[in-house]
Formats: sequence, C-alpha cells, structure tokens
Amino acid sequence: MSHVLVCGGAGYVGSHAASVLAGHGHRVTVLDNLSTGHRDAVRWGRLVEADLLVPEQLDRAFEEPVDAVMHFCALSLVGESVANPYAYYRNNVAGTLNLLEAMKRHGVDRLVFSSTAAVFGQPQSARIDEDHPQAPINPYGASKAMVEEILRHAAQAYGLRSVALRYFNAAGAAADRGIGESHSPETHLIPNVLRAALGTGPALKVFGTDYSTVDGTCVRDYVHVLDLADAHVLALGLMDREAGAHAFNLGNGNGFSVLEVIETARRVTGRDIAFDAAPRRAGDPAVLVASSDRARDVLGWSPRHAALDEIIDSAWRWHSAPAY
Ligand code: UFG
Repeated sequence: MSHVLVCGGAGYVGSHAASVLAGHGHRVTVLDNLSTGHRDAVRWGRLVEADLLVPEQLDRAFEEPVDAVMHFCALSLVGESVANPYAYYRNNVAGTLNLLEAMKRHGVDRLVFSSTAAVFGQPQSARIDEDHPQAPINPYGASKAMVEEILRHAAQAYGLRSVALRYFNAAGAAADRGIGESHSPETHLIPNVLRAALGTGPALKVFGTDYSTVDGTCVRDYVHVLDLADAHVLALGLMDREAGAHAFNLGNGNGFSVLEVIETARRVTGRDIAFDAAPRRAGDPAVLVASSDRARDVLGWSPRHAALDEIIDSAWRWHSAPAY
C-alpha cells in the first residue's frame, strides 16, 4: 500500500483515479484549489486546499510521507489556451515546476502526469503511437509537451521516476460511486450530447460537417475514465520496476465521428437528440485515434469499458442525476 498525493483529485479524471486507488488499498490525499474541481468529488481521502502557484501552500500536503504523486491539475481548454497563453503556461508549466520542487524538498521521486493527445498536434498517421512527432498546435498542448520535457530532464538530473499518460478523449463516469464529469462551461461532446438528450443544455451544435472523414464530422478515440484510472495504478507499478521518464498514449484505438456519438447516445438514452450543423471549431484536427500497444505491452493495460455504448451509458447514468 502506498500513500498517493492526488493533485487535482477534485476534478474529473483525478476523482476517478482517487476512487480506483482507494479500491486497490492505497491511501489517498487530495490537493486541489477547487477552481474547477468539486469538494463533493473528494471522497477517498483528506482534502488539502492549496494552489500550485503558491509554493508555500504545498508543504501541508507532504506532512505525512508521500510515496508518489499523481498530477491532474491543469487548465485544459484548447480554445481558451489560444486566447490566454500566459494563463496556460503559468498554471500548467510554472505550477508543475512548483509541485516538482515541493516533491524534491520532501524526497518524493515518483510522479504520474496527466498529458494529452494534444502534444502531437496535427496527426501524421491514422493511429498515433508514442513515436509520432510532437508538434503541438496550441498553448495547451505545448504546455503539456514542455512538462514532459522537464520530466525527462528531471530523470537525468535528480533521478525522478515519472510516467506521462496521454489521454485521448476521456469520457464516462462512475455514477454508482457518486462521481462524474461536471465542467462549467462544458465544451466536451458527450456531456453536451447528453444534456441535449435531457433538455437541460443549450442547443447541441456539431462543429464542422465538411471534414474528410466517414460522414464529414471529426473522429475521436473515446476512452473510459475508469480505464484511464487503471492505467495510473499500473504506472505506480512500473515506477517500482523501472527508473526514467516514461510516456504512454491511452485510447481504445477506435475512432467514432461526432454523428456516430450522437447516434449511439440516441440508442443508449432512447431520447431524440436534435442538433444544428455549425462551422468548424478552431484547432480541431479531423481525426485523433491512439495506438496504445505500448501501454498494453509495458504497463499491462487492458481497457475494461472499451465499447462506446458502455462509455455513453455510464455518462448517461451520471448526467441523469449528477451529484454536483
Ligand atoms: N464537438 C461538437 N459539439 C460540441 C462539443 C464538441 O461538435 O458541443 C466536437 C468537437 O468539435 C470535436 C469532437 O466533438 O470534433 C470532440 O470534442 P471534445 O471537445 O469533446 O474533445 P476534443 O477532441 O476537442 O479534446 C481532446 C482532449 C483534449 C485535447 C484535444 C486535442 O479532450 O485534452 O482533444 O485536440 F487537447
């Protein structure tokens, strides 16, 4: 059993990771500034309210010895990052540096870092593996790529062990554990589709119907948030076995278009879901699909909720009665 400090554990992916860590018998402490996270999502350990941009607040999280840190804190909206790059570099890069320095002060040498498909930029191949060139096209992706570079240098200089997990499209929820996806504003496709099904959201827009894809809409690789959480637990094991800075792409390797997502949601919810065609959203690549062979081979990761129906059904159960 380890004591894991989950930074950003009040947020969407972080709260699901905290739940899965606790399920594996690990002790969890959550650090969060609650800027986008939810106090009610912190259910598997004590909450230290602190901000990565205020270094002196961080020591409180290390009062009891920490074995490993998982770092989910970030600003993560592509469009916002284009409009306000300073905020993204400050929060995502400078904030991470503060965390890394706090870890060093407290002798913690293991980190699992939330990275993103956006580190790759425009895809050059049908499925993106870890050897794909990194050429981010927005400050969000660039901020995550910078941290990955810092982690490689920290491995050499200080012996920091790290695993960067590059999520493709995180989706789904664990409503039976009282946690799910709740962003404000909500920009992600599946929550917006389900809110449209419930009649609680704004009118659904499909951004771009003229891409060269199966039906003209963007194709993405949706991966269940609990499967992402599993990968974090496996990453702890990898860091026990191996030094260095590792990185893995996490997706199911299947692409679904926006229209296919809407059609699946209609089937799963039994509701009519109206939408309007809208212009392309700036910065959206046509297709983003992962190759996760390395995660399967090296981490032993095997997604348990890979079917889009199941992913959407789990999100539907959450959105039908969200706890926060
Ligand atoms: N979309 C709509 N309508 C909506 C919301 C989204 O048509 O209301 C479309 C988007 O244009 C896109 C697809 O649905 O084509 C998926 O959009 P999301 O916002 O759900 O997810 P993204 O693919 O934009 O985001 C993912 C990751 C980010 C990463 C980004 C890189 O969540 O971390 O890919 O492009 F930065």
